[in-house]
Amino acid sequence: MIYFALSKGRLAAESAALLKKCGVDASVLESDTRKLVLTSADGKYGFFLVKPSDVPTYVEAGVADLGVVGKDTLMEENKDLYEMLDLRLGECRLCLAGFPARKDALTNPHLRVATKYVNTARRVFEERGEEIEIIPLHGSIELAPVTGLADVIFDVVQTGSTLKANGLAVLEEVFAGITARLVANKVSLKLKSEEILPLIGKLKEVIA
Ligand code: PRP
Repeated sequence: MIYFALSKGRLAAESAALLKKCGVDASVLESDTRKLVLTSADGKYGFFLVKPSDVPTYVEAGVADLGVVGKDTLMEENKDLYEMLDLRLGECRLCLAGFPARKDALTNPHLRVATKYVNTARRVFEERGEEIEIIPLHGSIELAPVTGLADVIFDVVQTGSTLKANGLAVLEEVFAGITARLVANKVSLKLKSEEILPLIGKLKEVIA
C-alpha cells in the first residue's frame, strides 16, 4: 500500500484529479467527509489529509510515502526528503507586497514584514544583508499592512485578487514558479520502488 500526505485547501481538488488521471483510484477524495484518513476502494492507496505546512513532516517521518505540497512550503520547512517532480499545479509567486503608493516601503531601515514564511523571509533578507523585523502570522496576511501591524507582507500571490481587494499590490516578485511538487520519503523510495517508480512515470506522462 502507498500512503500519500495530501494538502487540504487550494491544492486538494487538483491533486486528486491528477492522481485519478494516472490511474490512482482517488475517487474517495471527492467524498464530503471530516475523516482525515481515506483508503482507495481498491485498497492500494491510503490518503492522509493534512495542512499544507505539515505535508513535509509526514513524508520526512515516513508515515506517508509520498506527498503533494507547494514549493513555497518545501522551501519553508526544509525537510529531509526527495523532491521528485514538478506537478505544475497551483502556480503562484512568492512576493513582497504592500501599498502601491508606498513603493519605497522596502527601503525602510526598520522594515516590518508580516508572513507565514518566516524562515524563507529571514533567508531572503539575510542574503541581502538587510535587517528586518519579521511578524509571524498564520493567515489573512494582507490584513497586516492594512491595519498597520506591518509595512509589507511576504506571501504567495496567485490570482492577485486578495491583494487587490485590500488595496495592496506586488512591490517585488522574489520567487516565481511556485508550484505543487511530488515529494517522497527516502526509505520508501527504496523499499516501495516497484510501486512508486511506475506511478512517477505515469505522472510524468500525464503532465507532459
Ligand atoms: C493565500 C495567501 C493569500 C492568497 C493569495 O491565502 O496567503 O492570502 O492565498 O491568493 P490570490 O492571489 O489568488 O488572492 P489562503 O487562501 O491560502 O488562506 P490564508 O489567508 O488562510 O493563508
